Amino acid sequence: KWLRVSSTVVVIFITIQTGLLLFMYARHSSFLPHSEEKPSQVHILILSSWRSGSSFVGQLFSQHPDVFYLMEPAWHVWVTMYQNSAKVLHMAVRDLVRSVFLCDMSVFDAYMPWKRNLSDLFQWAVSRALCSAPACDSFQRMDITNEMACKTLCGKYPFSKVEEACKTYSHVVIKEVRFFDLKVLYPLFTDPSLNLKIIHLVRDPRAVVKSREQSVKALTRDNGIVLNTNGTKVEDSKYLVMQEICRSHVQIYETATQKPPDFLKNRYLMIRFEDLVRDPLSEISEMYKFADLSLAPRLESWIYNITHGQGPGKKKEAFKITSRDAVNVSQAWRNVLSFQKIKKIQEVCRGAINMLGYQLVDSEKEQKDLSLDLVLPRRRNQFSWSSFSPKN
Ligand SMILES: *[C@@H]1O[C@H](CO)[C@@H](O)[C@H](O)[C@H]1NC(C)=O
Ligand SMILES: *[C@@H]1O[C@H](CO)[C@@H](O)[C@H](O)[C@H]1NC(C)=O
Ligand SMILES: *[C@@H]1O[C@H](CO)[C@@H](O)[C@H](O)[C@H]1NC(C)=O
Ligand SMILES: *[C@@H]1O[C@H](CO)[C@@H](O)[C@H](O)[C@H]1NC(C)=O
Repeated sequence: KWLRVSSTVVVIFITIQTGLLLFMYARHSSFLPHSEEKPSQVHILILSSWRSGSSFVGQLFSQHPDVFYLMEPAWHVWVTMYQNSAKVLHMAVRDLVRSVFLCDMSVFDAYMPWKRNLSDLFQWAVSRALCSAPACDSFQRMDITNEMACKTLCGKYPFSKVEEACKTYSHVVIKEVRFFDLKVLYPLFTDPSLNLKIIHLVRDPRAVVKSREQSVKALTRDNGIVLNTNGTKVEDSKYLVMQEICRSHVQIYETATQKPPDFLKNRYLMIRFEDLVRDPLSEISEMYKFADLSLAPRLESWIYNITHGQGPGKKKEAFKITSRDAVNVSQAWRNVLSFQKIKKIQEVCRGAINMLGYQLVDSEKEQKDLSLDLVLPRRRNQFSWSSFSPKN
């Protein structure tokens, strides 16, 4: 009797299995729409430029317990092949970003010593995922981690931990400043193994110049690559790098919003640093929504703290946005730069300033009059996916 029951169970079991197999077969055959085959992981690329607040935005993602974050992994490509131009390196950078999204860290073989630790990865300690389990045993996944403490405790773990950790997350987020053309990324949008979304972070070019002036030396190698100087380091005294950065923001924004291909639908979000500074909680929730991330209470408390200048070590944090001096910070260039300089920047970046919604200043009087708001209200949804008309 027992045997009979047991064989009935087996028959039922086999029937269910066959049904499942048939169902899976149907899903993978062409009877069902291809959209169902998108991978379950979400891949977010924060596309920005030097000194535009991207480290801050990167932290907003890095500290999320569902996110595996790397800050500028393509730094390794540029450092290794510094005699090439940004344009030539685009493809190697894209390939590296794709591999990292897929948690295939063997791509770093080309750029790193064969024997390597976690700490050989550029800016590894800003990644909460590399400071907590399973990459490092010193912190929990839900912890808010801090770069200094992580550097002390987690640096000697083997490099293989990067890949092991990556595979345990639902979201992989990469911040890059080394793309100057959205079309270079098209193959990643159409790649069925990826589920790519882009957050394009921009900032007023005049504020960017003010910030770049505070780190002239640190930028000279990257400048050389942008300007294709065959490995010679250069200062950006004539704003030629700024010109290229502004050109690329215009190209990326235009390509994504004016008659974009179907595969970009709902996969591009432009964020202005100034809006983030003025109303951080609403901009952050928009980014999280776009990225399919939820806001847990602990993370919300941390975000509240860092955007209101509270919590431990507030002075030394890389992102000291406080509501009280938020507008001051984003307007500091108006007191610091000479009108001559501003005129020159406005010349090379006129297109970007207009397109991204900033106002030009025509005189030193306008420059210094802080009651004059140069950040135009953001026109969200000025573009509708279904109703654009063809150009005449
Ligand atoms: C990697 O970690 C090991 C073990 O702690 C250490 O002996 C070695 O020096 C480290 N290597 C590098 C390149 O930091
Ligand atoms: C680039 O520099 C290297 C030496 O640093 C030199 O051998 C090479 O000829 C240069 N290439 C060009 C195109 O100038
Ligand atoms: C935020 O700041 C408050 C007050 O300083 C502190 O008690 C709390 O732990 C902080 N929250 C986080 C997540 O750091
Ligand atoms: C903001 O800037 C104004 C004018 O430069 C200054 O008087 C004020 O103290 C600043 N406020 C803060 C909070 O830094």
